[in-house]
Amino acid sequence: MAKVVLITGGSSGIGKALVSELRSRGCKVASAARSHKDKVEESLLTIKADITRAEGIEKLVDKTLDAFGRIDVLINNSGIILEGPFEKHTDEEIEEIFNINVLAHLKLTSRVYPLMLKQKGGHIINIVSTNALMGRKNFTLYGASKFAMRGFSEALNAEARGKGIKVTAVYPGGVQTGLFDKMGKPDEYSVFLRPEDIAKPVADLILSDSKGCPSTLVINKMA
Ligand SMILES: NC(=O)c1ccc[n+]([C@@H]2O[C@H](COP(=O)([O-])OP(=O)(O)OC[C@H]3O[C@@H](n4cnc5c(N)ncnc54)[C@H](OP(=O)(O)O)[C@@H]3O)[C@@H](O)[C@H]2O)c1
Repeated sequence: MAKVVLITGGSSGIGKALVSELRSRGCKVASAARSHKDKVEESLLTIKADITRAEGIEKLVDKTLDAFGRIDVLINNSGIILEGPFEKHTDEEIEEIFNINVLAHLKLTSRVYPLMLKQKGGHIINIVSTNALMGRKNFTLYGASKFAMRGFSEALNAEARGKGIKVTAVYPGGVQTGLFDKMGKPDEYSVFLRPEDIAKPVADLILSDSKGCPSTLVINKMA
């Protein structure tokens, strides 16, 4: 049976590459983004939703269940990045980055995880960052939000795996995406990975029929 995957942020970058890779490998995919139009095709449901809003989360879960009947895989992928010395950040920026990168995904997972418990199976994948493995200068807010998602993934994995639910935290290094549109491209941008370099190994994990599952996947460039 085709796996049903719900992904946040499928309109761009890593999320867009995952949508395309998973569809090409037979999955049914529901993607949420603010820039999407509400539209359904045979294997793709796009949902216009802001996942920082409660109604956005309700809409994407309800529409996915209406269209595809269940959710086998949840990919918490949406995110933003902010750069700068810590003393320059405002309270609004602190709230904005935690709302998108952390709170929205905790709230969405709290809606989807009980469905997976009822199904006695499922896979939750959090797209984190190598910024959750080591703190970096001028990325305090981004790093803090990603360390929070690392903590969530590790603790949920400990809780969920005995109940048949897989949890994987993915830690990509730099990837060429729209994430850097507002802050400007980092110096090393030209040697960053392509979104497909993340999408393929993540799709391999999702489609594996192994009873075991890596709880962490670090994807760095080869040189
Ligand atoms: N690029 C990298 O170097 C890199 C490295 C490690 C980890 N990551 C992580 O990978 C994930 C994907 O980022 P990306 O690099 O692919 O960036 P991207 O191209 O900017 O994509 C971000 C996605 O998040 C969506 N999004 C943002 N705010 C949203 C909201 N409030 N509600 C719904 N969707 C929202 C955007 O769609 P709309 O704007 O249409 O809403 C877009 O589809 C992020 O969690 C990022 O931290 C990226």
